[in-house]
Amino acid sequence: MPAPPPARRASLHAIKEGPNPMANTVLTLKKKVDEGHKVTMVTSYDYTMAALTEAAGIDMILVGDSLGMTMMGYDSTLPVTMDDMVHHTRCVTRATENTFVVGDMPFMSYQASLEQALENAGRLMKEGRCQAVKLEGGARCVEQIRAMVEAGIPVVGHLGLTPQSVNAFGGFKVQGKSEEAARQLVDDALAIEAAGAFCIVLECVPANLATYITERLNSAFTIGIGAGNGCDGQVLVVQDMLGMTAGGFKPKMVRQFAQVGQVVVDAFHAYDEAIQSGDFPSSAESYKDLDPEVMNQVRSN
Ligand code: KIV
Repeated sequence: MPAPPPARRASLHAIKEGPNPMANTVLTLKKKVDEGHKVTMVTSYDYTMAALTEAAGIDMILVGDSLGMTMMGYDSTLPVTMDDMVHHTRCVTRATENTFVVGDMPFMSYQASLEQALENAGRLMKEGRCQAVKLEGGARCVEQIRAMVEAGIPVVGHLGLTPQSVNAFGGFKVQGKSEEAARQLVDDALAIEAAGAFCIVLECVPANLATYITERLNSAFTIGIGAGNGCDGQVLVVQDMLGMTAGGFKPKMVRQFAQVGQVVVDAFHAYDEAIQSGDFPSSAESYKDLDPEVMNQVRSN
């Protein structure tokens, strides 16, 4: 179990000591990109995984609404609620000190009105204590993004295969494949950058198109997932990259950097065998016996 990190500084403390110089911010992330480095992001949804991500020095955590599938067992992200997102985002931010945490706006938490979008983005920041919010969509989200940015909320955009629109797309498919669709993606990226998004996730788009969009943007940087290596950074769903997916399905865009799922199953088998054989717990793993005299008295009463 990773040791808990020191709590984020109380404001008076922070004023006295100055800001945490190790913390990733919108400014340090952009600087990293401008200096030619790649930004690293993984999803995390709970305290333990967030503490490990922080320990590894990953730049950004996305508390993605993919938690609907990875943590809650739904078959899409659509049923995820604001309460689910606030709960998981707060679990993650209890573990982070330096990692920049982005909370995802779930389906229908920002589409109905500007008021609804602002209220829910505010909840993620105030209750979830993340440093930015992410929402899916291009030109149609410009008003929401502008209002959030004006309210002081940093916004990450998300274009390409946006899973909340899976029903509109007719399935999980690569986006931007025709000239028209590709132009639309470029226009959407420029529109949400102009509205104030500081970062844009590009999911499942042809690599050369993602590279072109990255080159066209000025103030915003791109994070790719299934979008080739021309983006400014990369994100993967943590269960995918650690080989923790049930059934072993691996999308083309995923690289498994470990086989954690198999390690866990092997450990559970070993645990079961050790219990059945009487090997666990050993005397070294048990507390000191009660004094024999006291034990005799217990037995005699
Ligand atoms: O919800 C999520 O995890 C995401 C990533 C796949 C980018 O949106």
